[in-house]
Amino acid sequence: MLLTAPGAQQAILGITEAFKADSFPKKINLGVGAYRDDKGKPYVLPSVLKAEEKVIASRLNKEYAGITGVPEFTKAAAVLAYGKDSPALDRLAITQSISGTGALRIGAAFLERFYPGAKKIYVPNPSWANHGAVFKDAGLEVDKYRYYNKDTIGLDFEGLLADVKAAPKESIFLFHACAHNPTGIDPTPEQWQQIEAAVKANGHYCFFDMAYQGFASGDINKDAYAVRYFVEKGHNICLAQSFAKNMGLYGERVGAFSILTESAEEKKRVDSQVKILVRPLYSNPPIHGARIASEILNSPALYDQWLVEVKEMADRIITMRALLKDNLEKLGSKHDWSHITSQIGMFAYTGLTPEQMDKLAREHSVYATKDGRISVAGITSENVGRLAEAIFKVKG
Ligand code: LMR
Repeated sequence: MLLTAPGAQQAILGITEAFKADSFPKKINLGVGAYRDDKGKPYVLPSVLKAEEKVIASRLNKEYAGITGVPEFTKAAAVLAYGKDSPALDRLAITQSISGTGALRIGAAFLERFYPGAKKIYVPNPSWANHGAVFKDAGLEVDKYRYYNKDTIGLDFEGLLADVKAAPKESIFLFHACAHNPTGIDPTPEQWQQIEAAVKANGHYCFFDMAYQGFASGDINKDAYAVRYFVEKGHNICLAQSFAKNMGLYGERVGAFSILTESAEEKKRVDSQVKILVRPLYSNPPIHGARIASEILNSPALYDQWLVEVKEMADRIITMRALLKDNLEKLGSKHDWSHITSQIGMFAYTGLTPEQMDKLAREHSVYATKDGRISVAGITSENVGRLAEAIFKVKG
């Protein structure tokens, strides 16, 4: 007997299963964070299609990549995150990863093995539902720092800062670089500066998760502000990157994990240890998606096209936020829904309770996570009216 009890349903991906099992034709899936076009259909970016055609036309072989992946891709991924003129690029150990989750997993395993201080990571409360599981499975202890103030439906900045200051010196902190998941609430640049000062004063180590570069503001440079600011201030951070959202490469599993080292010599040591870690985990990463991403990042014309497409996706989400809020107000809702438009990124944190979310699913075939998060990317011009009615019926 290997298993004694069934596992709990997966908080985010389980929603898609419940959605698929519902036969109501006007059902709405706002569970998983995956972009949809205004017809509610999965979207393959035109720049991705073009890049893929180029990859196929070049008839490359299907040999294994090295353990750390496709070098043209990882080099370009580093530039995208840290900036093309960043002096950090010379001391960066980077490996391709199985998207953002894989990057987090490698990072956690690396810290578990090599971090000299306590093997404990502080994550925001709340955080992406999978963070805790990824870190615990890699052997790290997980604790939380304050992030969300449910009374203001905004950032608990005082709480966050106090928790950064109260944690034992040289703790590990996980920060969402931009478009915080699930709340859609990010610190302002001035707040990041204060967080940085508190982190530095306490000697903490920062792990950034940047799964949504481009999705917060529509501008990949603006969205990299926190990462670049911390690096500029001398923090040797580590970073998980995902190309699932900003290139729509979800199932291709394209990501990168990087560690900023102190010197070219330390970089060599870190590189070799990352390889030792990855080899028994999955040997080496898949090549197709990384080739597509590399084609986009390394070809100026495709890169410019891609930037426009990222902005278009971010803008459609902003339009849907405004429409949802308008519809709720038109229905006569007396609640303040301004957070729907002030929050950013793919998600809105509605403030609906788990009971209300249950009701949305049971009575209105609207599916999203119990914490009240909705993926705004699943809203369309056609379903926004029905969605607002459903929310109005369960919350008023
Ligand atoms: C999400 O939060 O919905 C996405 O990051 C997808 C996932 O794997 O959970």
